[in-house]
Amino acid sequence: MKNIYPIVVIIAAVVLVPSLFSFQPAELNAEEQLGKELFFDVILSQDHSISCASCHKPEFAFADNVAISEGLFGQETARNTPSTMNLRAYESFAWDGRNKTLERQSLAPLKDFAEMGMPVDEAVARLISNEHYNASFRFVYSSIPSQETLGRALAAYQRTLFSLSAYDRYVAGSENAISESAKRGLELFAGKAQCVNCHMGDDFTSGGFENIGTYNGKEYDDKGRGNYTKKEEDNGKFKVPSLRSVAMTAPYMHDGSIKTLREVIEYYNTPRKFRADALGRGELIPDALHLTSEEVSDLEAFLISLSGEDIVKHK
Ligand code: HEC
Ligand code: HEC
Repeated sequence: MKNIYPIVVIIAAVVLVPSLFSFQPAELNAEEQLGKELFFDVILSQDHSISCASCHKPEFAFADNVAISEGLFGQETARNTPSTMNLRAYESFAWDGRNKTLERQSLAPLKDFAEMGMPVDEAVARLISNEHYNASFRFVYSSIPSQETLGRALAAYQRTLFSLSAYDRYVAGSENAISESAKRGLELFAGKAQCVNCHMGDDFTSGGFENIGTYNGKEYDDKGRGNYTKKEEDNGKFKVPSLRSVAMTAPYMHDGSIKTLREVIEYYNTPRKFRADALGRGELIPDALHLTSEEVSDLEAFLISLSGEDIVKHK
């Protein structure tokens, strides 16, 4: 009997651990590999100067480290560049959710004159006349490049981008993977600080749209979701962002107006101190959370523990 035990443990580890995470090492299939090449290639911008990765920078968890990014001819983007990792909980894309699929979202920056300034059919024509891409698309999709397959390849690559963190190791049973302060932060996150009302589930997002009080119709005049739906009650609502790798994606919010994680937590602690005249702040964001400065530090430690150094492929 005593010889069976290690075998059972090994089988349990081999079967359970991957299924717990359903992660794989970052080995890409041909479609994902094609999407990756395109993501990093300036061929998709009008003057061959900008790729997706010019704004979605791998070293910052595929977000940008400035409030507003620069696109074609140094023009400014309308909003802060979000991460293209950890997207699986979203049913629609962009801060206002105006793009219903990741494929469509992936073609949108081409057309946007401030981003890449490239009509999609022109981009496709370029790929068709490029020997390498022409052959790659034929290999993957059995036909020459098209709008549809360009969107599919870019989306396939982005769907593989997923970050694991110390927090995941903690959840999988490694008690010491995160600090005592981060553990207290986790309790606050789910309790007193009420973050979990919106940042819930495996990726810490409901995938929905909420008004947390960042819009005042004056100097902060981005209507967010309201811009897209044209409904007054949606003004000031933005997509609840995933918090995986959040320590790497400063500055924060749709406009990049908050510089550090600590400041974000202080914002939630007393939102009115930051935006006294906010319009339509939702009921889930109370006037004060009454967090002590130690509790703010604990929450910060918890958020840092969600920030993965390991980028893995998500199935
Ligand atoms: C000039 C900077 C810039 C470039 C280049 C760029 N993006 Fe973006 N991206 C942004 C900004 C800004 C947003 C947010 C748009 C909004 O919410 O209005 C965004 C949003 C996204 C999103 C939505 C993420 C989410 O959380 O909903 C995806 C996916 C994305 N971009 C993929 C791409 C791909 C693929 C390319 C290349 C074809 C690309 N981007 C090129 C700046 C850029
Ligand atoms: C009512 C829903 C809701 C609650 C509750 C909530 N958030 Fe958020 N969170 C959002 C939305 C929506 C945004 C984006 C708002 C914007 O851009 O104007 C956001 C943005 C953030 C960001 C910035 C992420 C980025 O990529 O820019 C962080 C960090 C964050 N929240 C952490 C927290 C913490 C910590 C708590 C608890 C103290 C919390 N949130 C409570 C909805 C919520």
